[in-house]
Amino acid sequence: MCQEGLRADAVVLDPMCGSGMVPGMAARRGMRSIGCDIDTLARLISGVNSKPVDPDAARAALGDLMKAAAATPPDRADLPWIDGCGETRKRLEFWFAPMQRDQLRRLFHQLVTKPLLAIDACSDVLKVAVSRLIVTKTPKASLAADTARSRPHRVLTENTFDVKQALPGSLDHVLRVIGSPDIPHPAEILAEDARDMAGVPDGAVDLIITSPPYLNAINYMRGHRLSLHWMGYTASDCRKMAGRCVGATAKACSTGGAGPLDETLDRLPLGDRR
Ligand SMILES: C[S@@+](CC[C@H](N)C(=O)[O-])C[C@H]1O[C@@H](n2cnc3c(N)ncnc32)[C@H](O)[C@@H]1O
Repeated sequence: MCQEGLRADAVVLDPMCGSGMVPGMAARRGMRSIGCDIDTLARLISGVNSKPVDPDAARAALGDLMKAAAATPPDRADLPWIDGCGETRKRLEFWFAPMQRDQLRRLFHQLVTKPLLAIDACSDVLKVAVSRLIVTKTPKASLAADTARSRPHRVLTENTFDVKQALPGSLDHVLRVIGSPDIPHPAEILAEDARDMAGVPDGAVDLIITSPPYLNAINYMRGHRLSLHWMGYTASDCRKMAGRCVGATAKACSTGGAGPLDETLDRLPLGDRR
């Protein structure tokens, strides 16, 4: 990112910031930056990517999280938004095998419903570390391949992947990507629709940089929802988010995005879907 010709206090905006490459890079260069996205997972990753994180505190929080998760009996690890929604629960039963469902349930029970103080301070970075094991190219925590490419398809029926064992390595990766904890002006990450931007005042921005969505070629929510469901978002919440995406079809908007057709496609082998 070239700062030539920009004031030192210039504000950079990416109105559809995805994983936050633009606000993250601007923040690391000492600039002020704003990132907007309607996808909650994109905002979570962007926030982690453009704010300072203390690596030692994050690793200590992961240790606390693992201990608390291990000490929670499965029948006490309630996740009300899943347990109370048949559609969300059935979807998770389809995409995750019992062992990983149990591990993720315990982790997100701690992360979402009753975060301990030390865990709460680092909860976003921990959520991203777990999410990296779900939204993947090849199956890890889920039974699906290509979740990261928004074309999840179930390629396994059984899974021995150990989420607990993989989590420290995933957190290390996130901390390496974030790099220096010195970020003078953490980016502001907003839940704004790029077509509206009511939360960004006129004249507040000096430079806009974006790579826009690929219209309906990529439906990010189809992959992201496998992670978002664990974090507190139901099937219906994710449909609403998908329906607000640039490129969502009129049909998808009226049903709120990934609906029965998507569900059917998900269950077909890749060759048949083409
Ligand atoms: C190609 S990715 C963004 C990449 C990012 N701009 C970059 O340059 O690194 C497109 C993003 O646009 C977001 N998006 C789609 N429709 C949107 C809307 N109406 N308002 C804000 N963000 C939207 C998607 O959720 C997705 O994260």
